[in-house]
Amino acid sequence: FVVDKANYRHFMAKEIHEQPEVVGHTLARYLDMASERIALPMKLPFDFKDVQHLSITACGTANYAGYVAKYWFEQFARLPVEIDIASEFRYREAPLRSGDLAIFISQSGETADTLAALRYAKEQGLHTLSVVNVPTSTIARESEVVMPTLAGPEIGVASTKAFTCQLTALAALAIAAGRARGTLTDADEAKLVHGLIELPRLMAAALTHEPQIERLARDISKAQDVLYLGRGTSYPLALEGALKLKEISYIHAEGYAAGELKHGPIALIDEKMPVVVIAPYDRVFEKTVSNMQEVAARGGRIILMTDAKGAEEATVDSMVTIMMPDMPAAFTPMVYAIPVQLLAYHTAVVMGTDVDQPRNLAKSVTVE
Ligand code: G6P
Repeated sequence: FVVDKANYRHFMAKEIHEQPEVVGHTLARYLDMASERIALPMKLPFDFKDVQHLSITACGTANYAGYVAKYWFEQFARLPVEIDIASEFRYREAPLRSGDLAIFISQSGETADTLAALRYAKEQGLHTLSVVNVPTSTIARESEVVMPTLAGPEIGVASTKAFTCQLTALAALAIAAGRARGTLTDADEAKLVHGLIELPRLMAAALTHEPQIERLARDISKAQDVLYLGRGTSYPLALEGALKLKEISYIHAEGYAAGELKHGPIALIDEKMPVVVIAPYDRVFEKTVSNMQEVAARGGRIILMTDAKGAEEATVDSMVTIMMPDMPAAFTPMVYAIPVQLLAYHTAVVMGTDVDQPRNLAKSVTVE
Protein backbone atom coordinates (compact mmCIF):
# COMPACT_ATOMS: atom_id res chain seq x y z
CA PHE A 1 0.00 0.00 0.00
CA VAL A 2 1.03 3.59 -0.48
CA VAL A 3 2.47 5.54 2.41
CA ASP A 4 2.23 9.29 2.02
CA LYS A 5 3.82 12.20 3.80
CA ALA A 6 0.50 13.52 5.08
CA ASN A 7 1.11 17.22 5.70
CA TYR A 8 4.81 16.88 6.34
CA ARG A 9 7.57 18.08 4.08
CA HIS A 10 9.55 14.87 4.49
CA PHE A 11 8.88 11.31 5.56
CA MET A 12 11.48 11.77 8.27
CA ALA A 13 9.47 14.62 9.85
CA LYS A 14 6.31 12.55 9.72
CA GLU A 15 8.07 9.56 11.23
CA ILE A 16 9.55 11.62 14.06
CA HIS A 17 6.09 12.93 14.89
CA GLU A 18 4.48 9.49 14.76
CA GLN A 19 6.62 8.23 17.62
CA PRO A 20 4.28 8.75 20.58
CA GLU A 21 1.66 6.78 18.71
CA VAL A 22 3.79 3.91 17.41
CA VAL A 23 5.63 3.52 20.70
CA GLY A 24 2.15 3.27 22.22
CA HIS A 25 1.27 0.47 19.78
CA THR A 26 4.50 -1.35 20.57
CA LEU A 27 3.87 -1.04 24.31
CA ALA A 28 0.35 -2.39 23.90
CA ARG A 29 1.83 -5.49 22.26
CA TYR A 30 4.24 -6.27 25.10
CA LEU A 31 2.59 -5.19 28.28
CA ASP A 32 -0.65 -5.32 30.12
CA MET A 33 -1.56 -1.73 30.86
CA ALA A 34 -4.18 -2.58 33.47
CA SER A 35 -2.05 -4.78 35.72
CA GLU A 36 1.17 -2.85 34.90
CA ARG A 37 2.97 -6.09 34.09
CA ILE A 38 4.97 -7.23 31.11
CA ALA A 39 2.87 -9.67 29.08
CA LEU A 40 4.89 -11.07 26.20
CA PRO A 41 2.57 -12.39 23.50
CA MET A 42 5.02 -15.11 22.46
CA LYS A 43 6.36 -18.15 24.23
CA LEU A 44 10.08 -18.16 24.85
CA PRO A 45 11.81 -21.45 24.00
CA PHE A 46 14.36 -20.81 26.76
CA ASP A 47 14.28 -19.71 30.36
CA PHE A 48 16.12 -16.47 31.11
CA LYS A 49 17.36 -18.16 34.29
CA ASP A 50 19.45 -20.52 32.15
CA VAL A 51 20.95 -17.77 30.04
CA GLN A 52 24.41 -16.89 31.29
CA HIS A 53 25.39 -14.45 28.63
CA LEU A 54 23.47 -12.34 26.16
CA SER A 55 24.82 -11.13 22.87
CA ILE A 56 23.14 -8.32 20.97
CA THR A 57 24.02 -7.73 17.36
CA ALA A 58 22.87 -5.17 14.79
CA CYS A 59 24.04 -2.45 12.40
CA GLY A 60 23.67 1.32 12.40
CA THR A 61 20.90 2.83 14.44
CA ALA A 62 19.63 -0.60 15.47
CA ASN A 63 23.03 -1.26 16.99
CA TYR A 64 22.66 1.82 19.17
CA ALA A 65 19.25 0.60 20.31
CA GLY A 66 21.02 -2.60 21.34
CA TYR A 67 23.67 -0.60 23.14
CA VAL A 68 21.02 1.14 25.23
CA ALA A 69 19.39 -2.24 25.94
CA LYS A 70 22.69 -3.57 27.23
CA TYR A 71 22.38 -1.19 30.19
CA TRP A 72 18.83 -2.41 30.85
CA PHE A 73 19.59 -6.15 30.68
CA GLU A 74 22.55 -5.68 32.97
CA GLN A 75 20.69 -3.49 35.42
CA PHE A 76 17.28 -5.18 35.50
CA ALA A 77 18.28 -8.80 34.91
CA ARG A 78 21.92 -8.81 36.07
CA LEU A 79 22.69 -10.50 32.78
CA PRO A 80 26.07 -9.81 31.18
CA VAL A 81 25.66 -8.42 27.68
CA GLU A 82 27.99 -8.05 24.79
CA ILE A 83 26.97 -5.67 22.06
CA ASP A 84 28.37 -6.14 18.59
CA ILE A 85 28.27 -4.63 15.18
CA ALA A 86 27.04 -7.46 12.96
CA SER A 87 30.03 -7.38 10.61
CA GLU A 88 32.36 -7.79 13.61
CA PHE A 89 30.38 -10.43 15.46
CA ARG A 90 30.55 -12.78 12.49
CA TYR A 91 34.28 -12.78 12.12
CA ARG A 92 35.76 -12.24 15.54
CA GLU A 93 35.38 -15.82 16.78
CA ALA A 94 33.72 -14.85 20.03
CA PRO A 95 33.46 -17.75 22.47
CA LEU A 96 29.76 -18.58 22.46
CA ARG A 97 27.96 -21.02 24.73
CA SER A 98 25.28 -23.20 23.27
CA GLY A 99 21.96 -22.46 25.01
CA ASP A 100 22.76 -18.78 25.54
CA LEU A 101 20.72 -16.12 23.82
CA ALA A 102 21.59 -13.93 20.86
CA ILE A 103 19.37 -10.96 20.02
CA PHE A 104 19.35 -9.36 16.57
CA ILE A 105 17.84 -5.96 15.90
CA SER A 106 16.87 -4.77 12.45
CA GLN A 107 14.28 -2.39 11.07
CA SER A 108 14.22 -3.98 7.62
CA GLY A 109 15.02 -7.52 8.69
CA GLU A 110 17.14 -7.80 5.55
CA THR A 111 20.52 -6.30 6.49
CA ALA A 112 23.07 -8.73 5.06
CA ASP A 113 25.56 -8.67 7.93
CA THR A 114 22.86 -8.97 10.60
CA LEU A 115 21.31 -11.90 8.75
CA ALA A 116 24.69 -13.61 8.41
CA ALA A 117 25.33 -13.04 12.13
CA LEU A 118 21.97 -14.63 12.94
CA ARG A 119 22.81 -17.70 10.86
CA TYR A 120 26.20 -17.93 12.52
CA ALA A 121 24.65 -17.78 16.01
CA LYS A 122 22.21 -20.54 15.08
CA GLU A 123 25.06 -22.73 13.87
CA GLN A 124 26.74 -22.22 17.23
CA GLY A 125 23.65 -23.53 19.02
CA LEU A 126 22.45 -20.24 20.46
CA HIS A 127 18.83 -19.33 20.92
CA THR A 128 17.95 -16.49 18.59
CA LEU A 129 15.49 -13.68 19.08
CA SER A 130 15.02 -10.82 16.66
CA VAL A 131 13.48 -7.40 17.09
CA VAL A 132 12.33 -6.45 13.60
CA ASN A 133 9.98 -3.96 12.05
CA VAL A 134 9.13 -6.00 8.96
CA PRO A 135 7.55 -9.22 10.22
CA THR A 136 7.76 -10.95 6.82
CA SER A 137 11.49 -10.29 6.50
CA THR A 138 14.23 -12.90 6.23
CA ILE A 139 15.62 -12.17 9.70
CA ALA A 140 12.12 -12.54 11.20
CA ARG A 141 11.55 -15.82 9.36
CA GLU A 142 14.85 -17.34 10.36
CA SER A 143 14.79 -16.38 14.06
CA GLU A 144 13.52 -18.70 16.74
CA VAL A 145 11.58 -15.88 18.39
CA VAL A 146 10.41 -12.64 16.80
CA MET A 147 9.47 -9.45 18.59
CA PRO A 148 7.92 -7.17 16.00
CA THR A 149 8.21 -3.44 16.53
CA LEU A 150 5.00 -1.78 15.50
CA ALA A 151 6.50 1.32 13.97
CA GLY A 152 4.73 0.91 10.64
CA PRO A 153 6.58 1.39 7.35
CA GLU A 154 9.65 3.60 7.76
CA ILE A 155 10.51 5.38 4.52
CA GLY A 156 13.15 7.95 5.53
CA VAL A 157 16.58 6.37 5.15
CA ALA A 158 17.63 7.71 8.55
CA SER A 159 15.87 5.56 11.10
CA THR A 160 13.78 7.35 13.73
CA LYS A 161 10.54 5.70 14.80
CA ALA A 162 11.96 2.20 14.30
CA PHE A 163 14.68 3.12 16.82
CA THR A 164 12.33 4.20 19.60
CA CYS A 165 10.10 1.18 18.97
CA GLN A 166 13.14 -1.12 19.13
CA LEU A 167 14.02 0.47 22.47
CA THR A 168 10.47 -0.08 23.69
CA ALA A 169 10.39 -3.78 22.76
CA LEU A 170 13.85 -4.31 24.25
CA ALA A 171 12.89 -2.55 27.48
CA ALA A 172 9.91 -4.90 27.84
CA LEU A 173 12.13 -7.91 27.22
CA ALA A 174 14.74 -6.73 29.72
CA ILE A 175 12.05 -6.37 32.39
CA ALA A 176 10.71 -9.84 31.52
CA ALA A 177 14.26 -11.17 31.90
CA GLY A 178 14.59 -9.48 35.29
CA ARG A 179 11.36 -11.06 36.44
CA ALA A 180 12.36 -14.52 35.23
CA ARG A 181 15.76 -14.27 36.89
CA GLY A 182 14.33 -12.98 40.15
CA THR A 183 16.32 -9.77 40.02
CA LEU A 184 13.21 -7.57 39.85
CA THR A 185 10.44 -7.75 42.41
CA ASP A 186 6.79 -7.31 41.44
CA ALA A 187 7.00 -3.78 42.78
CA ASP A 188 10.11 -3.04 40.69
CA GLU A 189 8.36 -4.38 37.63
CA ALA A 190 5.24 -2.30 38.25
CA LYS A 191 7.35 0.82 38.65
CA LEU A 192 9.25 0.19 35.44
CA VAL A 193 6.13 -0.71 33.48
CA HIS A 194 4.49 2.42 34.75
CA GLY A 195 7.48 4.36 33.39
CA LEU A 196 6.97 2.72 29.99
CA ILE A 197 3.27 3.54 29.94
CA GLU A 198 4.14 7.21 30.45
CA LEU A 199 6.40 7.31 27.40
CA PRO A 200 3.94 8.37 24.69
CA ARG A 201 2.86 11.36 26.76
CA LEU A 202 6.46 12.35 27.52
CA MET A 203 7.51 11.94 23.90
CA ALA A 204 4.64 14.18 22.83
CA ALA A 205 5.88 16.77 25.35
CA ALA A 206 9.39 16.52 23.89
CA LEU A 207 8.01 17.22 20.41
CA THR A 208 6.67 20.60 21.53
CA HIS A 209 10.24 21.95 21.59
CA GLU A 210 10.54 21.74 17.83
CA PRO A 211 10.47 25.54 17.19
CA GLN A 212 13.43 26.09 19.52
CA ILE A 213 15.34 23.21 17.95
CA GLU A 214 14.62 24.57 14.49
CA ARG A 215 16.27 27.85 15.51
CA LEU A 216 19.29 26.06 16.99
CA ALA A 217 19.65 24.06 13.79
CA ARG A 218 20.55 27.29 11.95
CA ASP A 219 23.62 27.58 14.18
CA ILE A 220 24.52 23.93 13.87
CA SER A 221 24.33 24.19 10.09
CA LYS A 222 27.29 26.59 10.17
CA ALA A 223 29.50 24.16 12.06
CA GLN A 224 32.07 21.87 10.52
CA ASP A 225 32.11 19.39 13.34
CA VAL A 226 29.71 18.66 16.17
CA LEU A 227 30.44 16.64 19.27
CA TYR A 228 27.74 14.68 21.14
CA LEU A 229 28.35 13.64 24.73
CA GLY A 230 26.43 11.45 27.15
CA ARG A 231 26.88 8.99 30.01
CA GLY A 232 25.04 5.77 30.78
CA THR A 233 22.18 5.14 28.37
CA SER A 234 22.68 8.68 27.04
CA TYR A 235 26.05 7.56 25.69
CA PRO A 236 24.63 5.34 22.94
CA LEU A 237 22.11 8.09 22.31
CA ALA A 238 25.04 10.48 21.77
CA LEU A 239 26.39 8.00 19.21
CA GLU A 240 22.99 7.91 17.55
CA GLY A 241 22.76 11.73 17.55
CA ALA A 242 26.10 12.01 15.78
CA LEU A 243 25.12 9.31 13.29
CA LYS A 244 21.81 11.02 12.52
CA LEU A 245 23.46 14.39 11.95
CA LYS A 246 26.17 13.09 9.63
CA GLU A 247 23.78 10.86 7.69
CA ILE A 248 21.44 13.61 6.62
CA SER A 249 23.25 16.95 6.96
CA TYR A 250 26.73 15.68 5.96
CA ILE A 251 28.23 17.63 8.86
CA HIS A 252 30.93 15.67 10.60
CA ALA A 253 29.84 14.60 14.05
CA GLU A 254 31.16 12.30 16.73
CA GLY A 255 29.50 10.76 19.73
CA TYR A 256 31.57 10.18 22.84
CA ALA A 257 31.09 8.94 26.36
CA ALA A 258 31.34 12.19 28.32
CA GLY A 259 34.00 10.69 30.57
CA GLU A 260 36.23 10.11 27.55
CA LEU A 261 36.27 13.82 26.68
CA LYS A 262 39.67 14.26 28.28
CA HIS A 263 41.10 11.33 26.36
CA GLY A 264 40.98 12.94 22.97
CA PRO A 265 38.06 15.00 21.76
CA ILE A 266 38.77 17.90 24.12
CA ALA A 267 41.68 18.73 21.80
CA LEU A 268 39.17 19.65 19.09
CA ILE A 269 37.12 22.07 21.14
CA ASP A 270 37.09 25.73 20.23
CA GLU A 271 34.41 28.39 19.82
CA LYS A 272 33.46 26.98 16.43
CA MET A 273 32.50 23.56 17.69
CA PRO A 274 29.03 23.00 19.10
CA VAL A 275 28.83 20.31 21.76
CA VAL A 276 25.49 18.62 22.27
CA VAL A 277 25.23 17.20 25.77
CA ILE A 278 22.51 14.67 26.52
CA ALA A 279 22.14 14.65 30.28
CA PRO A 280 18.92 13.96 32.14
CA TYR A 281 19.30 14.67 35.85
CA ASP A 282 20.49 11.29 37.11
CA ARG A 283 23.21 9.86 39.32
CA VAL A 284 25.95 10.72 36.82
CA PHE A 285 24.67 14.21 36.08
CA GLU A 286 27.24 16.01 38.25
CA LYS A 287 30.05 14.25 36.39
CA THR A 288 28.64 15.46 33.10
CA VAL A 289 28.43 19.01 34.44
CA SER A 290 32.15 18.97 35.08
CA ASN A 291 32.69 17.81 31.50
CA MET A 292 30.56 20.73 30.33
CA GLN A 293 32.67 23.12 32.38
CA GLU A 294 35.73 21.77 30.63
CA VAL A 295 34.08 22.45 27.27
CA ALA A 296 32.97 25.96 28.30
CA ALA A 297 36.44 26.82 29.60
CA ARG A 298 37.74 26.23 26.07
CA GLY A 299 35.12 28.42 24.47
CA GLY A 300 32.96 25.52 23.28
CA ARG A 301 29.25 26.21 22.80
CA ILE A 302 26.98 23.79 24.59
CA ILE A 303 23.51 22.63 23.74
CA LEU A 304 22.26 20.81 26.80
CA MET A 305 19.32 18.45 26.63
CA THR A 306 18.13 18.00 30.20
CA ASP A 307 15.15 18.32 32.54
CA ALA A 308 14.15 21.07 34.99
CA LYS A 309 16.37 19.82 37.80
CA GLY A 310 19.31 19.42 35.43
CA ALA A 311 18.84 22.94 34.09
CA GLU A 312 18.83 24.27 37.62
CA GLU A 313 21.98 22.39 38.65
CA ALA A 314 24.05 22.99 35.53
CA THR A 315 25.89 26.24 36.03
CA VAL A 316 27.88 26.58 32.87
CA ASP A 317 28.54 29.55 30.58
CA SER A 318 27.57 29.75 26.92
CA MET A 319 24.91 27.16 27.15
CA VAL A 320 21.51 26.70 25.57
CA THR A 321 19.10 24.30 27.24
CA ILE A 322 16.50 22.15 25.53
CA MET A 323 14.14 21.31 28.33
CA MET A 324 12.85 17.76 28.48
CA PRO A 325 10.03 16.62 30.75
CA ASP A 326 10.79 15.24 34.21
CA MET A 327 10.76 11.47 34.20
CA PRO A 328 12.33 8.44 35.86
CA ALA A 329 15.89 7.74 34.74
CA ALA A 330 15.42 4.32 33.15
CA PHE A 331 13.69 5.22 29.91
CA THR A 332 15.05 8.66 29.07
CA PRO A 333 16.56 7.43 25.75
CA MET A 334 13.14 7.15 24.13
CA VAL A 335 12.27 10.73 25.06
CA TYR A 336 15.67 12.34 24.44
CA ALA A 337 15.79 10.64 21.04
CA ILE A 338 13.24 13.20 19.90
CA PRO A 339 15.30 16.41 20.25
CA VAL A 340 18.31 14.49 18.92
CA GLN A 341 16.38 13.52 15.78
CA LEU A 342 14.79 16.95 15.36
CA LEU A 343 18.14 18.68 15.59
CA ALA A 344 19.56 16.50 12.81
CA TYR A 345 16.42 16.89 10.74
CA HIS A 346 16.22 20.66 10.91
CA THR A 347 19.95 21.05 10.31
CA ALA A 348 19.60 18.99 7.15
CA VAL A 349 16.63 21.09 6.06
CA VAL A 350 18.71 24.26 6.53
CA MET A 351 21.55 22.67 4.57
CA GLY A 352 19.13 21.79 1.79
CA THR A 353 20.10 18.15 1.55
CA ASP A 354 17.86 15.35 0.38
CA VAL A 355 16.64 14.46 3.86
CA ASP A 356 14.74 11.28 3.04
CA GLN A 357 17.28 9.98 0.52
CA PRO A 358 20.71 11.14 1.66
CA ARG A 359 23.54 10.61 -0.78
CA ASN A 360 25.39 7.29 -0.76
CA LEU A 361 23.08 5.67 1.80
CA ALA A 362 20.51 2.93 1.39
CA LYS A 363 17.54 2.18 3.58
CA SER A 364 18.45 -1.44 3.71
CA VAL A 365 21.96 -2.71 3.11
CA THR A 366 21.56 -6.14 1.57
CA VAL A 367 25.16 -6.53 0.47
CA GLU A 368 28.09 -7.09 2.80
C1 G6P B 1 21.23 1.34 6.94
C2 G6P B 1 20.24 2.45 7.24
C3 G6P B 1 20.24 2.77 8.74
C4 G6P B 1 19.97 1.51 9.53
C5 G6P B 1 20.94 0.38 9.17
C6 G6P B 1 20.49 -0.96 9.75
O1 G6P B 1 22.53 1.80 7.14
O2 G6P B 1 20.57 3.61 6.50
O3 G6P B 1 19.23 3.74 9.04
O4 G6P B 1 20.05 1.79 10.90
O5 G6P B 1 21.01 0.19 7.77
O6 G6P B 1 19.30 -1.33 9.11
P1 G6P B 1 18.29 -2.36 9.71
O7 G6P B 1 17.19 -2.44 8.67
O8 G6P B 1 19.01 -3.66 9.88
O9 G6P B 1 17.81 -1.81 10.99
